[in-house]
Amino acid sequence: MLNVANLHAFYGKSHVLHGVSFHVQPGQIVALLGRNGSGRSTTAKAIMGLVDCRGSILWKEREIVGKKAYQIAHLGIGYVPENRDIFPKLTVHQNLLLGQKGAGKGARWSFKDMYAMFPRLLERQHTEAGVLSGGEQQMLTLCRTLMGDPDLIIIDEPTEGLAPKIVELVGQYLQALKAKGISVLLIEQKLTIAMAISDRVLVMGHGSIVFDGTPDGLRADAYVRKEWLEV
Ligand SMILES: Nc1ncnc2c1ncn2[C@@H]1O[C@H](COP(=O)(O)OP(=O)(O)O)[C@@H](O)[C@H]1O
Ligand SMILES: [Mg+2]
Repeated sequence: MLNVANLHAFYGKSHVLHGVSFHVQPGQIVALLGRNGSGRSTTAKAIMGLVDCRGSILWKEREIVGKKAYQIAHLGIGYVPENRDIFPKLTVHQNLLLGQKGAGKGARWSFKDMYAMFPRLLERQHTEAGVLSGGEQQMLTLCRTLMGDPDLIIIDEPTEGLAPKIVELVGQYLQALKAKGISVLLIEQKLTIAMAISDRVLVMGHGSIVFDGTPDGLRADAYVRKEWLEV
């Protein structure tokens, strides 16, 4: 469904991705792991049309390299960036409303669904988003993206800075999305959650994919873990 082939990405003259290839099948959770600076966020930005790139990104058999970010979003790819950019002065409810884009009618998710899945957001629906805790903001960003009715969610380090209990909760929510048929590309540094919920794992190093396999395969591969993951 998402097929990335020989992708190169650039920030000005700086060449950051060097021929990245991988795919995500419908209903799969695929983890993209790697150390800081390995190129994971750049991969997400390239898919979303937010960075200069070359190569091929097929989404539902259609080439999306060269398309604008809003066009890519409308084709059904949801993006939760690493900085959780909520609108701090708007309420929780207003933030969700902004996520609806063109979706609205016939969309898979309603406000009711969001509030049922995240009761904390219902309690705080009239609160300014800026005063929510980190975990609540992460949930709000995820919900806002879901309101756009994506078939694939790219979520960049959702557990960064969250307490272990909340990290577990995020894992459960991602699995709930998968149960609804949504694919997830999960960018992470934390191995535990990624290994627990992913169907496949990719490891990035220096702007290339250095491992593509199953969680069990990565568990068995001490070399890859030592060389590209452990700090
Ligand atoms: N806006 C930018 N301008 C120039 N270089 C960047 C920019 N963002 C990231 N980089 C560089 O690209 C490389 C990959 O970064 P990134 O994709 O953010 O890695 P990761 O998300 O895996 O931590 C790093 O060397 C980083 O310094
Ligand atoms: Mg990053």
